[in-house]
Amino acid sequence: MDKCVTVIVGTKWGDEGKGKIAAREAKDANLVIRATGGANAGHTVIYKGTKLALHLVPGGIVYSQTTCIIGPGTVVDPDVLCSEITMLENCGIPDVKNRLKISGRTHVILPYHKDLDELHEKMKEHPVGTTKRGIGPCYSDKDNRIGIRMYDLLFPKAELKKKITEATKLHNQAFQKNGMNECIVDVNNLANHCQSIGLKLKPCITDIAPIITDNILNRKKIVVEGAQAFRLDLDHGDYPMVTSSNPVTAGTLCGAALPPQALKTVIGIDKAYNSRVGNGPFPTELPVSIDSNGNVMEYTKPLEGDIIRELGHEYGTTTKRPRRCGWMDAVILRSAKYTCGIDYLCINHLDTLGEIGNRIGYVKICVGYSYQGNIIHFYPDNIELTHEVPKPIYKTLNGGWTIDSSCKTYDDLPELAKKFVKIIEETSNIPVKYLGTGPANDDLIVREDV
Ligand code: GDP
Ligand code: IMO
Ligand code: MG
Repeated sequence: MDKCVTVIVGTKWGDEGKGKIAAREAKDANLVIRATGGANAGHTVIYKGTKLALHLVPGGIVYSQTTCIIGPGTVVDPDVLCSEITMLENCGIPDVKNRLKISGRTHVILPYHKDLDELHEKMKEHPVGTTKRGIGPCYSDKDNRIGIRMYDLLFPKAELKKKITEATKLHNQAFQKNGMNECIVDVNNLANHCQSIGLKLKPCITDIAPIITDNILNRKKIVVEGAQAFRLDLDHGDYPMVTSSNPVTAGTLCGAALPPQALKTVIGIDKAYNSRVGNGPFPTELPVSIDSNGNVMEYTKPLEGDIIRELGHEYGTTTKRPRRCGWMDAVILRSAKYTCGIDYLCINHLDTLGEIGNRIGYVKICVGYSYQGNIIHFYPDNIELTHEVPKPIYKTLNGGWTIDSSCKTYDDLPELAKKFVKIIEETSNIPVKYLGTGPANDDLIVREDV
């Protein structure tokens, strides 16, 4: 089988700049596929100088030769999708509805999933800090085989009502018991809503298998736009502080309905400092004056985390929550290499880290951990059990750097920035082929020799 698939995968906790790289890779692609998650993702793509925040439609939609697929592994909020389609059309992107294909197998997020997400979080002693987009409850219904799929939106009303009734029996009991009567599902109303959405999306809902087969047979380039990231993976991340899908490479292939034999390249995306939204371990996290729940700490002068957040504009694309910020953790990359099969790294925000270094006076890179009395060079599996977050061991580079538009190649980069990249390569054992130097799709240094 011809190898024609490039997978873009997040290496940390999301928001590494996957959207930008997926869009760039889509420039010469025929097919771009979203494979996991739903509107918990927020991918920024620049189109003719305008910032687009995409939650469901693959960023490749900005190139008119692409067909964009929302794969069966995703969970789709149809209201968000319809607004996104309208937004893209209003931006002048051609032929959106004709080029967008939604697998009929994709599960649908309905209002009760978002209410359940809220309820589950409220009931937990240690909430995950989800995006409250209904992701977990929708995947959980899928697993319980009571989910509503895109195909179901096309059923006659009587059949749709039967499915919704079946799906919501237990959920309604939970709403009633918890004094959330306003959330109890009115089956008739919801069936009407589903039917009207079904009608709108009908031209896009399809069997995606023939499209994929045709592209593979004709050796066309296929890009999988991974969402979320390695440490948020349900099976391989920081369980239970994770999302409810499998964003690692294998999960994206499954969610995109692609055969592993067609895989050509995996690009792991990271940024030069790190960030996390929601709760869970973050070894290199730095102190901030305002935490991600909006609580204001004692404030005398900006702390290191504040400086990174401000210079990196680290506020959630989806929830607008202030992101937790910290130094680059290259140890996680070492662990990501094999779990995600990463061939090359892309390190975005090299420009921002330079500014951070100029402001703080140094930049740090985590190259090992002190954990349970030992020095280790991998991300431990049992953090929840030991209640101990690994303590980073840093290499420090004094100063920062400035990257302007004259930096087009690796050789043009300031020496300190090159040193930073070298330490990442040595620690992770993965070649850094791409370096992000700004937000636009083309603000990227590509090392052809790597
Ligand atoms: P994603 O979820 O992985 O697609 O990433 P997000 O879109 O949530 O967040 C990435 C943010 O960083 C966006 O605002 C991008 O425009 C921005 N960005 C991406 N790469 C670079 C870069 O190399 N430099 C700078 N300054 N900004 C970047
Ligand atoms: P992109 O694709 C950052 C995080 C949430 C929360 C946890 C579970 O933009 O990188 P969920 O709503 O999925 O049940 O929340 O996962 N999370 C993300 N964080 N970027 C994302 O996507 C995320 N998708 C989920 O913040 O901690
Ligand atoms: Mg994001």
